[in-house]
Amino acid sequence: MFAHSLWLLSSISLATCATIVWDGRVPSDVAVAGFDSKTGIFDPDNVKGQSLSFSKIVRLDAGAASLFDQQVSAQSVEVTIDDNSIFAPGGSQPQTAVRRAELMPNPATAPSDNATSTGVKTLHFSIKPSADRPLNTSHEYLMTFMERADFAGNPISLKTGTLIGSDGATKNDLQILGNSKDGSKALFSTPFTEDVFTNFALLMDFNKNTVQVFSSTGTDALTKQTNALPNDLSGNGALHFGLNKNPTNPGADSLRQGDQESGILEGVVYGGIFVEDSADGKVTLS
Ligand SMILES: *[C@@H]1O[C@H](CO)[C@@H](O)[C@H](O)[C@H]1NC(C)=O
Ligand SMILES: *[C@@H]1O[C@H](CO)[C@@H](O)[C@H](O)[C@H]1NC(C)=O
Repeated sequence: MFAHSLWLLSSISLATCATIVWDGRVPSDVAVAGFDSKTGIFDPDNVKGQSLSFSKIVRLDAGAASLFDQQVSAQSVEVTIDDNSIFAPGGSQPQTAVRRAELMPNPATAPSDNATSTGVKTLHFSIKPSADRPLNTSHEYLMTFMERADFAGNPISLKTGTLIGSDGATKNDLQILGNSKDGSKALFSTPFTEDVFTNFALLMDFNKNTVQVFSSTGTDALTKQTNALPNDLSGNGALHFGLNKNPTNPGADSLRQGDQESGILEGVVYGGIFVEDSADGKVTLS
């Protein structure tokens, strides 16, 4: 296991090694073809444009490893979208107004007992703008989120860009938002800085329905950014890591028709994705 500094919920906790319930860190010997594998870390089938394969969507030339990748010789991964990034859930009703590509835990290899959406768990990930394939911050981007198993909402999300309905004042920030069924309340925000990873740990108590945010940049240890904030975490569901580019001027219909320019190639870089058990009150900070 890796070296730790730990943030203790309880001053009597002495254990030194967190239990990782799902590890999304990509070993340095994995090539892009590994993202099409039926037995890889991530689902080879979702979420992506129908005509694309993940080996064409991800890039593994994304530069220096992030804080928690360094410790296990893992590599960062860039997720990209282009004009073909049109998802058709279940093969029908293509979401023509949205461009999306998201890595999700592979159901064939990830825990099947809802381990990442029950108990007390901490979601870790690091995120960095793509150096070569920038986002268009006139748009809203949903990047990391947990989606309820019944698809009826996202209990927790990370967005950037001009959030729909906003004036764009925070378009260059990373915004952690609470449950979409309760108005996606802003829980924490920090600049989305170029050339450096922003590291997050989201401590989620699925029993008490609270979320606590920790973050840092670069290789600095994470620090506590919020208290445990009330947030409905019910509904289980799956984690998504990628880009979901919403149209500007979305309509009211379910396909959210609106403005989405063509000729795009955009990316975002992820690293250090894993979920640890924090039932013992600990969050790995470095
Ligand atoms: C996982 O969660 C789903 C949705 O709430 C539920 O239907 C399923 O029974 C759960 N599975 C287990 C093994 O608890
Ligand atoms: C960014 O998005 C806006 C809104 O859709 C669009 O008008 C503009 O042309 C886009 N910019 C680029 C560089 O694609």
